[in-house]
Amino acid sequence: MNSLGFEATAPSNIALLKYWGKAAAADQWPANDSLSMTLQTSRTVTWAQMQNDTREDVLYWERTRLPSDDPRAKKIQRHLQWLRQNTGFAKPLRIHTYNTFPTGCGIASSASGMAALTVAALAAWTQSDQWDRLKTHGFDRSTLAQFARMGSGSAGRSLFGGYVAWNKNTSPTNQSIAPLPVGQDWSLVDLIVVISHEAKAISSSAGHELAATSPLFAPRVAGIAERRQQMEGAIRERDFAALGLLMEIDALEMHSVMMTMTPPANYLLPATVEFISWLREKRHQQGLRAYFTIDAGPNVHVLCEPSQAALVRYAIQQQFPQFSLIDDAMGHGPTLTAKNLQESHFA
Ligand code: PMV
Repeated sequence: MNSLGFEATAPSNIALLKYWGKAAAADQWPANDSLSMTLQTSRTVTWAQMQNDTREDVLYWERTRLPSDDPRAKKIQRHLQWLRQNTGFAKPLRIHTYNTFPTGCGIASSASGMAALTVAALAAWTQSDQWDRLKTHGFDRSTLAQFARMGSGSAGRSLFGGYVAWNKNTSPTNQSIAPLPVGQDWSLVDLIVVISHEAKAISSSAGHELAATSPLFAPRVAGIAERRQQMEGAIRERDFAALGLLMEIDALEMHSVMMTMTPPANYLLPATVEFISWLREKRHQQGLRAYFTIDAGPNVHVLCEPSQAALVRYAIQQQFPQFSLIDDAMGHGPTLTAKNLQESHFA
C-alpha cells in the first residue's frame, strides 16, 4: 500500500534585475541581488508519492518512464539527493512531471521545475497537503525557497507570487528570498517571443562560473544596489516607463558581461537584435508602451501593462508572424494539493 500522492505546480519567473555570477558557488550565493516577476501560465506540474515497494526513485516525464541517463532524470536526481542529505528523508519517490509550456522551446524550465520538485518531494515525505502543514514540519516558504535555489538559483524566486527579491545579504547563510513589500497588485503582462527553439550552447550554470572573467562584471555588481532601489521605486510608483528602461538596461548589461567573458558567451541571435531594435523603434516612433528583457537565451520577454497587451501582441504578430508567442502575466506562485495518481494530470 503506497502513501498519499501530492501535486505541486510552480510558475516560472522573469528576472527584471538579473542574477548573473556567484560570490560562492558551493553555497549558491549570488554575486548580486536580483528581482523578478512571477509568471502565471508557464508552470511545471509535479506529482510525487513515497514508495514502499521500490528501492529507487521512479521518474516519469508525463506518463513515460525516464531512463536514468536522461539529462532531465539526472537533474531531478541531483536535487533529490541534495534534499535527502539536507532533510534526512530517505524514502524513494515516484515522480511524474511536465511543463505547461512547450518543452525545448528555449524557455528555461529550471526555475519552475526545481521549485515544483522541491514542494512535491517535501509534501510527499511529510504527507502535507497544505502549506501550513509543511510549515509545522519546519518547511515554511522561505525554507523551501532556499532549498529550491540549490537546484537552480532562479528557482528560489518561484516559491512566491508577484514581485520577488533574492537578497544576497552579507554571507551565504543569511541570503534570503521574499516577496517585495510593494507592487503586489500591479500586474504586468509578459509576451514571450519564441525566436529559437534551440537549446543554449552554454548552460547558465557554466555561464555563472565565467561571469567574473568579464571586465564589465565588477562595475555591474557595484551598480546593482542603486538600480535595485530605482526599480523598487518604479514598482512602488507604478511607473512602467521607468521600470521598463531599467529592465532593458539591466538585461543588456548582463548580455554585455556574457559577451566579454573568457571564453565569451553570446546568447543572442541576429533575429533577437532585430526584434529589440524594432521594439525600441516602435516605442520611439509610435509610442508603443512595451519594454523587453532577455535571459540566457535568444528569446525575448516583452512586458507591458494589461491595457496595452492587445495592441502590443497585434504589433508583434504583424511584424514577426514567424515567431510564436506565449501569453503570460504576473501570477500568484505555487500550488499544492493531495491527489492520487488517478485524479492527477498524469492518470
Ligand atoms: O537559475 P539559473 O542558474 O538558471 O540562472 C538564471 C540566470 C538568468 O535567467 C539569466 C537571470 C535570472 O536572474 O533569472
